[in-house]
Amino acid sequence: DSLTQFNTLGLEADCFSLVRARQEAELIAICLQTFKAQEPLLLIGGGSNIVLTETFQGTAVLVQTKGIEVSQDDEHYYLKVEAGEVWHELIQFCLEHNMPGLENLALIPGSVGAAPIQNIGAYGAELAQFCDWVEYLDLPSGEIKRLEGCDCEFAYRESIFKNTLKRRAVILRVGLVLPKVWQPNLSYGPLQELSKRKQGVTPKEVFDCICDTRMAKLPDPAVLGNVGSFFKNPVVSQQTFERLQQQYVDIVGYPLEDSQVKLAAGWLIDRAGLKGESVGNASIHLKQALVIVNKGGCSGQDVCDLARLVIDRIFDDFGVRLEVEPRIIGATGQKELADA
Ligand code: EPU
Repeated sequence: DSLTQFNTLGLEADCFSLVRARQEAELIAICLQTFKAQEPLLLIGGGSNIVLTETFQGTAVLVQTKGIEVSQDDEHYYLKVEAGEVWHELIQFCLEHNMPGLENLALIPGSVGAAPIQNIGAYGAELAQFCDWVEYLDLPSGEIKRLEGCDCEFAYRESIFKNTLKRRAVILRVGLVLPKVWQPNLSYGPLQELSKRKQGVTPKEVFDCICDTRMAKLPDPAVLGNVGSFFKNPVVSQQTFERLQQQYVDIVGYPLEDSQVKLAAGWLIDRAGLKGESVGNASIHLKQALVIVNKGGCSGQDVCDLARLVIDRIFDDFGVRLEVEPRIIGATGQKELADA
């Protein structure tokens, strides 16, 4: 079966078998069966964070379970959302039902079940702020378990699901909590314009601003295949940042706790002159250097070769090592870029 239409980079790759799971029972059954048979298992939500490099020699499962349940107390709305819901559609649903809070995370591609894995984040917000709990199928025991948000080890593009629970958890649903008193989060870039206004801003305005900003910079996967940011923004010490700043006065960095600084990888790649750089038909996007695009019919190998070229060049130029953000998928599952 072909996975081409199920990965937003539009890479051509096959798998041994493809199963569409619309019901939780189906999802659990196929995952347990594959796990017990010790066959490779690939869970696909929106397919917006995977790079397929060869034929997947196992079962790919499209997680398409649907459902949103809402409850509330005096201060909060609580949402119980099935893994196969589309993240952006959830945000639209919340806005339509006057439950704002998630606007800053609008248009992030992918499914609700995938959101906790890399703790999706953008424009000054991240999933961790809203995540009440995550329910998952624990493959080794076959049990359904619930982790509180505070136990998910969320960090920048990180969670327990990429670490201790890697390859053993199938996320079934996510609990979100939204305070009833809405506080717009206007700290980031283009949103600051809104905060200067005399009259109060509305959630819809924040939502529209985020959508416009993303659409201006990030390529629409339906038009130009991509997986969003291909590299994480690297964290360096304050000391390293200051050393770099002496050489590159306009380098972009955001101070973190513990005298660390998060560098804008997009700036580094741009500054290294790599916009438009290509391997085969894989190319560094011209409008946003953090993104690798498929200009048509490129292979996962081209994408990986280009990523390695970028990493080497940034290391040579700045002494900083970039890490890839999406998961590189080989014949039997995730692998390191170096082995791809
Ligand atoms: N920049 C350049 N040239 C470029 C790209 C960026 O000079 O080609 C500079 C920008 O001018 C800006 C800085 O780098 O000063 C940061 O750029 P931007 O605001 O576009 O954000 P980002 O660091 O590139 C991160 C996330 C995005 C998220 C935005 C907004 C990562 C890896 N990426 O991008 O997330 O939407 O911030 O919060 O953290 C994603 O993960 O797929 C993603 C798109």
